[in-house]
Amino acid sequence: MASIDRADPVIMSHLLAQHRELHDLLVEARKKFDGPAGAVARAEAAGRLGTLRQHLARHFAQEEQGGFMEESLTRMPRLARAVGRVMAEHPTLLAELDGLLERLAAAENGAQAWQQAGRDFEAFASRLLAHERNENAVVQDGYNEDLGFAD
Ligand SMILES: [Fe+2]
Ligand SMILES: [Fe+2]
Repeated sequence: MASIDRADPVIMSHLLAQHRELHDLLVEARKKFDGPAGAVARAEAAGRLGTLRQHLARHFAQEEQGGFMEESLTRMPRLARAVGRVMAEHPTLLAELDGLLERLAAAENGAQAWQQAGRDFEAFASRLLAHERNENAVVQDGYNEDLGFAD
């Protein structure tokens, strides 16, 4: 593990960069749901979500392995519960994305199913963004305390 006796802005900026990248992938995926229903639109949306799935799985694995959350945790034991809570959301978020992919693969080309898929995607995107915001906050808390900004 990296040095734990001082704040490491490199880790923080790496985490934020990955979150920005995920945000961009979400924006790209959202565009695919904008158009009318159809097999091509569905395949393109599924392609975007598949790419997002790959990035997300890698990102979650990195966070769980340490280097991000682990740093905050070690610096500040009272954050352990908050870290545990955000990490526990990973399998749920991946399962939700898998569900979206499965429904896209099975869905018919009707407008109603397509609109529902778009709504499901938006719900997933909101949960993922909330998750990443919570993580940023936990890590930021850790660094603030480490730097003497928190009480
Ligand atoms: Fe995460
Ligand atoms: Fe994250």
